[in-house]
Amino acid sequence: MSVLPTAELHLHIEGTLEPELIFALAGRNGIELPYADVEELRSQYRFGDLQSFLNLYYGNMAVLQTEQDFADMTRAYLARAQAAGVRHAEIMMDPQAHLSRGISLATCVNGVASALAGSEEEFGISTELIAAFLRDEPAEEALAVLEQLLAMEAPIIGIGLDSAEVGHPPRDFVALYERAHEAGLKCIAHAGEEGPPEYIREALDLLQVSRIDHGIRCMEDEELVQRLAAEQTPLTVCPLSNVRLRAVDTLADHPLPRMLERGLNVSVNSDDPAYFGGYVDNNFIQLQSVFSFDDDQLAQLAANSVRSAFITDTRRRQLLAEIEAWRAGRQ
Ligand code: HPA
Ligand code: ZN
Repeated sequence: MSVLPTAELHLHIEGTLEPELIFALAGRNGIELPYADVEELRSQYRFGDLQSFLNLYYGNMAVLQTEQDFADMTRAYLARAQAAGVRHAEIMMDPQAHLSRGISLATCVNGVASALAGSEEEFGISTELIAAFLRDEPAEEALAVLEQLLAMEAPIIGIGLDSAEVGHPPRDFVALYERAHEAGLKCIAHAGEEGPPEYIREALDLLQVSRIDHGIRCMEDEELVQRLAAEQTPLTVCPLSNVRLRAVDTLADHPLPRMLERGLNVSVNSDDPAYFGGYVDNNFIQLQSVFSFDDDQLAQLAANSVRSAFITDTRRRQLLAEIEAWRAGRQ
């Protein structure tokens, strides 16, 4: 069975750190981990909510010390993503999570960017880099980091907003997004993962984002669903993440089929695949087994990702043709 070509629009590069690589980097950098081995680390991957995951996610970043570490992590993701059918990836990184550990912006940005530079040639995956800001840290800090990224001409296509959502509404980040728009950057934000539908509205109206990460809680608000459907706002849904972080009880309870029925522009993404039990191919496989999606529905989800990507019209046509060829080849 050939793998479905798709664009990955919601991925945190730090969330691709597999336990084996965490131990390899810890050894290389002389860092002592609070786990005896890979199995003990893996046994921690049971989360009650977003925060319990974030604690482990930020803790494990301690092993990322050098440009080479960031490059190795990124190359490992690209190799796995190629096997998963990813043909274009828009990759978030969390600069503040590294700055606060004494790692410079140049180290993390250049490390990731150096691996992305060879991606199209080596893995056939076109890529873009997005700087995500931590909404549970002060908005002034985010703005200062954005200014530094602009000053160093970091190769970013846009900005995002992530980390603990509840209690940290989009309205706190208006100045950050005004500056990003002024600098010509694309603007996206996590909203409606654990936070209420109102946060999705704020991201659209106050931050003027062109895409929403997650957005699943829109389904609690009929008027918002109608608006998102009418405007075809891209929603980058991450089904296995939502199960692991207990946003839904089981995959069978996931709103994705209802979102499709309502005509929402949803795509399937992996979020933090090393932590949530699967890359984008596993997300598709599990969705298919639970919801019995047919090939047309799978192709629709992949086409939505390509329609919603920050790519040229030429690349978009190329990838849509690949998806159509996949669908035709399945008949
Ligand atoms: N939600 C919010 N912030 C994040 C996530 C997520 O799933 N992954 C990494 N940072
Ligand atoms: Zn995310």
